[in-house]
Amino acid sequence: MKVGLLGLGTVGGGTLNVLHRNAAEISRRAGRDIVVSHAAARDYNPDDLEGLANVRISDDAFAVVRDPEVDIVVELIGGYSPARELVLEAIENGKHVVTANKALIALHGNEIFKAAQDKGVTVAFEAAVAGGIPIIKALREGLAANHIEWIAGIINGTGNFILTEMRDKGRDFADVLKEAQELGYAEADPTFDVEGIDAAHKLTILASLAFGIPLQFDSCYTEGITRVERQDVEYAEELGYRIKHLGVTRRTQEGVELRVHPTLIPERRLIANVDGVMNAVLVKGDAVGSTLYYGAGAGSLPTASAVVADIIDIARTLTTDPGNRVPHLAFQPDELSDLPVQGM
Ligand code: HSE
Repeated sequence: MKVGLLGLGTVGGGTLNVLHRNAAEISRRAGRDIVVSHAAARDYNPDDLEGLANVRISDDAFAVVRDPEVDIVVELIGGYSPARELVLEAIENGKHVVTANKALIALHGNEIFKAAQDKGVTVAFEAAVAGGIPIIKALREGLAANHIEWIAGIINGTGNFILTEMRDKGRDFADVLKEAQELGYAEADPTFDVEGIDAAHKLTILASLAFGIPLQFDSCYTEGITRVERQDVEYAEELGYRIKHLGVTRRTQEGVELRVHPTLIPERRLIANVDGVMNAVLVKGDAVGSTLYYGAGAGSLPTASAVVADIIDIARTLTTDPGNRVPHLAFQPDELSDLPVQGM
């Protein structure tokens, strides 16, 4: 199965490397070989990339999504445009799509999933939420029997890294943000991380899956960590609390609540002790009770782990029934569900 990779940056490079170094196990699990045949990138460092020899690299991403040889387009460019146009064109050309792009899914997902459904292809997006944590699969598969009551989580690695370093080492906000950028945690525009926009994108996606509602990013109450000062972190500590940036969504009498903001959490709570770039997501289901998912929320290989899992999933579907291009992984909101969504 041939993959066209759009982007060879932090996540694209990680995806290429994981596919190369774990090739034997991956092809066993997928039931077929998975080969990166094409990549689109303007700027990349060949020294950081494995298995480049057989990849046809172009600076024209549209040429990759149009190439008849490519079976799966993996969009790791990020941002709204041209990611939206590329993904829609890939779908139009009958290709499956894997993306880590939460901004794209949160804002244009309704349009993209409709197009995928019409065309009978899959759009998979595990890497869009909480980096390496398989939270999308948990909601879609492991918790599929449950009526989901609420979800709460630390879903931005950069923000959590900043808050942790401010608390543990008394470091300055700007200094830690710079380090998060160097480590490849932050968004291309880091205001998305620190203003809560990235977390709001991810929460929008989780709420949509959990409650079967259309993606409604504009309804999310969004507050970041830019107004949290070192003194706030210290005072919280004195009182036995930690400041964490949380995304919270839950069913209420009126509809669905959707909000991201800094929160005081008693330090004895598990989630108060999730530090650095780690993310954690709590999900409460009526049958299972409370469940907790923990892992690296950003970074090259953790995010690549989720991207490659989606590629394997798609390959498995094609393997078990090559004629069946039913989008079993695609996002399928309950069309009947029109619960009102509100911030706070
Ligand atoms: N900038 C994001 C974060 C990357 O820090 O969580 C992973 O989505």
